[in-house]
Amino acid sequence: MAANEGLKLVERGEDGVDLAFRADVLAGLSEAQKAIPARWLYDDAGSQLFEDITGIPEYYPTRAETEILRERGVQFAEAIGPGRAVVEFGSGSSVKTPLLLNAIAPGAYVPLDISGDFLRAAAADLVVQFPGLPIHPVEADFTKHVALPDEVASMPKLGFFPGSTIGNMVPRTAVDLLREMRGTLGDEAMLLIGMDLIKDVGVLEAAYDDAAGVTGEFNLNLARRINRELDGTIPVEKLRHVARWDDLYARIEMHLEAQEDLSFSVAGSDFTMTKGETIHTENSHKFDQRSSYMMLLSAGWTPCERWTDSDGRFSLILAEAAIPRSAP
Ligand code: TRP
Repeated sequence: MAANEGLKLVERGEDGVDLAFRADVLAGLSEAQKAIPARWLYDDAGSQLFEDITGIPEYYPTRAETEILRERGVQFAEAIGPGRAVVEFGSGSSVKTPLLLNAIAPGAYVPLDISGDFLRAAAADLVVQFPGLPIHPVEADFTKHVALPDEVASMPKLGFFPGSTIGNMVPRTAVDLLREMRGTLGDEAMLLIGMDLIKDVGVLEAAYDDAAGVTGEFNLNLARRINRELDGTIPVEKLRHVARWDDLYARIEMHLEAQEDLSFSVAGSDFTMTKGETIHTENSHKFDQRSSYMMLLSAGWTPCERWTDSDGRFSLILAEAAIPRSAP
């Protein structure tokens, strides 16, 4: 592990508590619309549940994006060219990555992830699959500025940001992040980014509230994590997972809804919820071609290619940092 090694990612209090987690939860539960930043969904249990979500029948995005990666290799190679350092933001278990790496003859692979365990396991697998490829994992929170390893300093970069993770941010944060990525990756860079598409509401809501209840477990795990790590007394069995489409903002919202009036404490502070009140835990924005292009352009990325799966459910967009010569 090269850059960022030894960097303290988590600041802990005397009792071992994650101070940023506690601050976010206490502030979020005190708002009129209770809300907790989605990044806290991903502890080890949450990351595992999330991997399970990608396999459930109703959750189409992973399959749709994988289809594109599988079918469009020749076009990726043509548009991207060889020798780029592929920098993957939030690589997780890196299941889609081999499809891309196989297609484009990259110069190096730099997976970035906040979970060191996932990162090391995935990197170890890829070393076996791609014996000649330099791999430089970086344990980092990609929402902050990331220092890339010196070994890839002279290579042009390809940012890889699959999974429509950009859609989990509100547009202001998404644009900040895309702009930050452009800074991290440099003026020669390209970006291959997945964005899920607007479609039938029934299909969308089922994808985020599957019959087997895996997505519900993923959402409820946040309340369990609060109880575990922040000395909380939230009655988890009295919360219900809700996924609903907001048409104005074009997003699925996930909430935890109180099924009766509740009172509980977290880290020594008391909170109440009335029946039907919710804690907002995640957004998943959906796009059409224009809204996805507008967001990229707003952050300094010029779209150059766009691919969708055969059912038109999901898009992968290739953009470049260079500004078109024709721009006035
Ligand atoms: N970014 C993906 C999406 O929005 C994956 C994802 C993030 C997700 N958080 C989720 C999927 C919560 C289901 C539930 O679809």
